[in-house]
Amino acid sequence: MTQRTEPLFDADTVAKAQDLIGRYPQSRSALLPMLHLVQSVQGHVSQEGIDFCARQLDLSEAEVSAVVTFYTMYKRRPCGEHLVSVCTNTLCAALGGDAIYQQLSEYLGVGHEETAGEPGEPGSVMLEHAECLAACDLAPVLQVNYEYYDKQTPESALELVKALQSGEKPAPSRGAPLTDFKGVELQLAGFFPEDEQTLRSQVDGPSQAVETLQGAKMAADRGWTAPVMEDVPLPEVEAK
Ligand code: FES
Repeated sequence: MTQRTEPLFDADTVAKAQDLIGRYPQSRSALLPMLHLVQSVQGHVSQEGIDFCARQLDLSEAEVSAVVTFYTMYKRRPCGEHLVSVCTNTLCAALGGDAIYQQLSEYLGVGHEETAGEPGEPGSVMLEHAECLAACDLAPVLQVNYEYYDKQTPESALELVKALQSGEKPAPSRGAPLTDFKGVELQLAGFFPEDEQTLRSQVDGPSQAVETLQGAKMAADRGWTAPVMEDVPLPEVEAK
């Protein structure tokens, strides 16, 4: 295994990459978090980032590129300080998601995966369409750096983006406080700079919305229970 300090990726990043490798029985399993680590340094995955992962993991550049281009969370173009993901999947679109995206796109003067402002600089914002963000009961939703902002309107979304541009970090509807794209990428890589207590309090923060639990509450109030499932044995799976 080659361990080397890159000009772009310093000794600390190399040490974190090696730490990630040590968490898995097979080194190649560390690729996904390592790509997030690369984004925490660069704000996107450049060719240098691909080369870095390939060298750390003894993979070919083609193998790393295939993964980078498959997952939408890996950005090939430099990202802004903040990533704004507007859900334009069916339910959100019908309830205003398309109008929100349109409003932000016109205001920022950018399209999908384009950044308004100098990428990485304070106040810069990358805009993107997102597929269903798994919060349809709170539609239309958007995320900033993967934190949720529920029940948005074109007006509230515009206000949010203007606040981001002026350096504010409005509190998400639920979950952890807002950071920035590079900061959240470091978390996704599995590194948490906060102390243990702060981290726990953020992770344990309120993450459920009243709407999400409405069905369970109605069932409990009315004494409804799910039908008992028969214990059916699983079919034999042919050995590979
Ligand atoms: S369609 Fe937008 S969260 Fe599901």
